[in-house]
Amino acid sequence: MRSDPKADLQHIAIIMDGNGRWARKRGLTRIKGHSAAERSIHDAVEVCGELGVEYLTLYAFSTENWSRPKAEVSFIMKLLSRFIKGNIEDLDDKNVKLRTTGRLNDLPEGPRQDLERAMERTSGNTGLNLILALSYGGRAELRDAFVQIAHGISTGDMDPSEITEELISAHMYNSDVPDPDVVIRTSGEQRLSNFLLWESAYSEFVFTPVLWPDFHAEQLHNALDQYRSRKRRFGGLE
Ligand code: FPP
Repeated sequence: MRSDPKADLQHIAIIMDGNGRWARKRGLTRIKGHSAAERSIHDAVEVCGELGVEYLTLYAFSTENWSRPKAEVSFIMKLLSRFIKGNIEDLDDKNVKLRTTGRLNDLPEGPRQDLERAMERTSGNTGLNLILALSYGGRAELRDAFVQIAHGISTGDMDPSEITEELISAHMYNSDVPDPDVVIRTSGEQRLSNFLLWESAYSEFVFTPVLWPDFHAEQLHNALDQYRSRKRRFGGLE
């Protein structure tokens, strides 16, 4: 869904990068870096709650991340379960609605069920929508949308002349969610890495050298100050 040009800040999306480097700098194993990521996630949820941001999407696991060593993938999946079980009470108290984007069916049964239970429990909440991108890839999302649209055409339910940008948006995984106003990437890398390819067409990008486990409330506020200093024109004139 197109973001509302008049709204201040509805949707923040974050590429949480640099856990491995954070751990290496301390002589720790990579998985310790993933464990340390939890506090930054807490802080991001907290800040979004305070600011009244409606959507926070966190890139937690990409379609490409499955190619990492088996032990690391398995650790991240366990961490996901631990994160959900350990935080669901608090998230629910904070009126957070937990959601996901991506190919959830790719996840092992344990974390998938934990997620589904948590989403069910928080489904009536009306505060921040915390969207975890899991087994998510922007190209996979576009491919899945194209398959659905092609199916509609092949059955005669749709004519190619009806394919508009709005129709494509309506076939994205979470079509009710406005496009991100800002995409933040930590750790100094300056690329999108297959994140929200369609949705970030008019997003502002903020890149920071801070590694994700060091990205706390203060760093997020700094990133948002950068966002606010930009002039968004959506291709038009001021
Ligand atoms: C990027 O750091 C991080 C990931 C690919 C995984 C992110 C996972 C988490 C933050 C934890 C699990 C998620 C939840 C919701 C509990 P990297 O490993 O690519 O770091 P590097 O670039 O320094 O190697």
